[in-house]
Amino acid sequence: MRVLTVAVLISGAGSNLRALLEAASAPDYPARIIAIGADREAAGFEHAEAFGIPTFLVPFREFESREAWGRELGVQLAAWQPDLVVLSGMMRLLPADLVAQWAPRIINTHPAYLPEFPGAHGVRDAIAAGVTQTGASVIVVDHGVDSGPILAQERVPVLPGDDESALHERIKPVERRLLIDVVRRIADGEIDLAVAAAEASK
Ligand code: GAR
Repeated sequence: MRVLTVAVLISGAGSNLRALLEAASAPDYPARIIAIGADREAAGFEHAEAFGIPTFLVPFREFESREAWGRELGVQLAAWQPDLVVLSGMMRLLPADLVAQWAPRIINTHPAYLPEFPGAHGVRDAIAAGVTQTGASVIVVDHGVDSGPILAQERVPVLPGDDESALHERIKPVERRLLIDVVRRIADGEIDLAVAAAEASK
């Protein structure tokens, strides 16, 4: 079995990363996480430690520009030569050069039913809009904000009384399931990222 190698980028708690690590530790899962990077001292690094996965930190605030930060992140990623880069709660916009370096082998999870509610506050924006359903999406990263080809998505209801945190906690299990499934399908060749990207640009 050919195993897909994956680098994951995080900014926060890394709960979706944790789920992917757990899935990838099953012997029949066709992908392995080989490195975990972050733009800050992310709490999610604890999961890397628990699973014995190497980490790299490229602190956004220590670079004079987004481009300079992205160049260093690109160098760090390239050192691992992953087949796929997964943004799992990476809360920084990647500079165009970095996206171009990895496209289309770079995917992102997002807590909304794209193209609805893109950006850093997908859950908050759904609540503010008063919608009765939102969702979760896994997309290919392109040069826009959460605008790339959609690989998988699923609706999640917004319940009366939901606040941002309650809704996000209900969305996350769906995101995890979609992410684990999409990575499996990429590894199995069921999803061809080059084809998905080409279709979307037609
Ligand atoms: C996830 O819901 C992810 O989709 C979201 O941040 C959360 C990270 O949670 N990302 C975005 O909103 C990106 N626009 P986690 O760190 O516990 O996995």
